[in-house]
Amino acid sequence: MTVSFSNDPTAKGFFAPTRFEADIFDCEVEGQIPRDLNGAFYRIGWDWLYPPKYTDDAAPFNGDGYVGMFRFQDASVDYKGRYVRTDRYLADRKARKQLFGRYRNRSTDDPSVRNLNRTVANTALVSHAGRLFALKEDALPIELDPDTLATRGAWNFGGKYDSRTFTAHPKIDPVTGDMICYGYEAMGDATNDVFVFVIDKKGNVTREVRFKAPIISMMHDIGLTQKHIVFNTTGFVTSADRLAAGKVHWAWDSKVPTYVGILPRDGDAKDMRWFKGPERAAIHILNANTRGNKVVVEAPVSDGNPFPFFAQADGSPFNPQKAGATLRRWTFDLSSKKDTWEEEVLFPQAVGGGLTRADERFWSVPYRYGFMGYTDPARPFDEARGGNLRGRVTNCYARFDLATGKMNSYFVGDVGALQECQFIPRRKGAPEGDGYLIGVASNYAEMRSELIIADAMRLEEGDIARVKLPFRLNSQVHGWWATADDLPLGPVA
Ligand SMILES: [Fe+2]
Repeated sequence: MTVSFSNDPTAKGFFAPTRFEADIFDCEVEGQIPRDLNGAFYRIGWDWLYPPKYTDDAAPFNGDGYVGMFRFQDASVDYKGRYVRTDRYLADRKARKQLFGRYRNRSTDDPSVRNLNRTVANTALVSHAGRLFALKEDALPIELDPDTLATRGAWNFGGKYDSRTFTAHPKIDPVTGDMICYGYEAMGDATNDVFVFVIDKKGNVTREVRFKAPIISMMHDIGLTQKHIVFNTTGFVTSADRLAAGKVHWAWDSKVPTYVGILPRDGDAKDMRWFKGPERAAIHILNANTRGNKVVVEAPVSDGNPFPFFAQADGSPFNPQKAGATLRRWTFDLSSKKDTWEEEVLFPQAVGGGLTRADERFWSVPYRYGFMGYTDPARPFDEARGGNLRGRVTNCYARFDLATGKMNSYFVGDVGALQECQFIPRRKGAPEGDGYLIGVASNYAEMRSELIIADAMRLEEGDIARVKLPFRLNSQVHGWWATADDLPLGPVA
């Protein structure tokens, strides 16, 4: 059968699928790689092996999982890129065609694969208890070999993890080393069951709490404090009827309130307290803290649907004005009887898709900094060399200082766009924010990708080094940094 991506409007130019795997020994570098960067930066996203079955699909999130690794050692970097060998990828390869249908809708799959694990494992990565996992919130984690990126298969934590799904955003408590994770739609598609787990630093499930969410919606991330876990619903809703009708899993319903459930970490479902607010999308959570009787959550928040590829439930057009996020603070007063919360905009800067990152050694505890990409339309863009993308690319990384209200910026240059950033501490025990901010940049003029490395405390000075790849990388969703203390990383060959 002929392979053609001509029916996929997203598969153009820089964003066309790459469809190859790669190894580069000792990458070309501009500048100087800091010698204290020792570990692996993993990144994951989508790269369609075969074109989507339907042109109206939510293509970006439905493509095959593809993981990349930049391995840092002795001021050098090696690169490796591999597809995640999901059951779905292997079935498509065997059939030499796309067997799977619309985003998270099994009823649209080829009958021959209706009972197969259909996850694409394309969203995020986490390392915990010496294992590396590729995550997508519709299935169990897929374990990868941290050195070779070979796929080891789905992992259910020795049978003790009994949700069918696992979040893309587990949180690791820096005090105990426990991983706090959950699955929504835990009993299967269009169920409102949420199962919450604590997995200790050895990888054993030590606690499980089950609750029912007020609505069936995308619950992509959580806020973790030392005392509470904060769950929020979004306007992305689904139903058994919707799935039976063969539609993409989610539609955005502007009429649905935002519910926020606060669960004491030592409590049970009966201790969950629900709050109710207006239409909001807090897809990613920067961080959260419990301060006395108050729970404080900081997150990029938009007033409506942030993703143009998920339709509005009422058929109205996508509204870009409501899609833009700003970094906001939600404060929940547990001593009040009210079921609402206070919202405060911390920084007026629009932060686009809201791919926020913290110095993750400070998850759940008092902290100061947030890192995020954003678009600065006032920065130059060379349309002659980079194409007609002025004002539309993520051209800056910001460091938000929540203590002073100051924002510092890194600018990628006039032909580039940035994917999610990753903070790396300079060394174990370094103060919060003391380290490097790294991330993949798309060089539109040269049609190839670069990994930029900047000093997180000196973003205005530009990058310290750029790792230059001789090809385009697939689009990234999230990344993850791990050292030899986190994962059994072998010596670089
Ligand atoms: Fe995410």
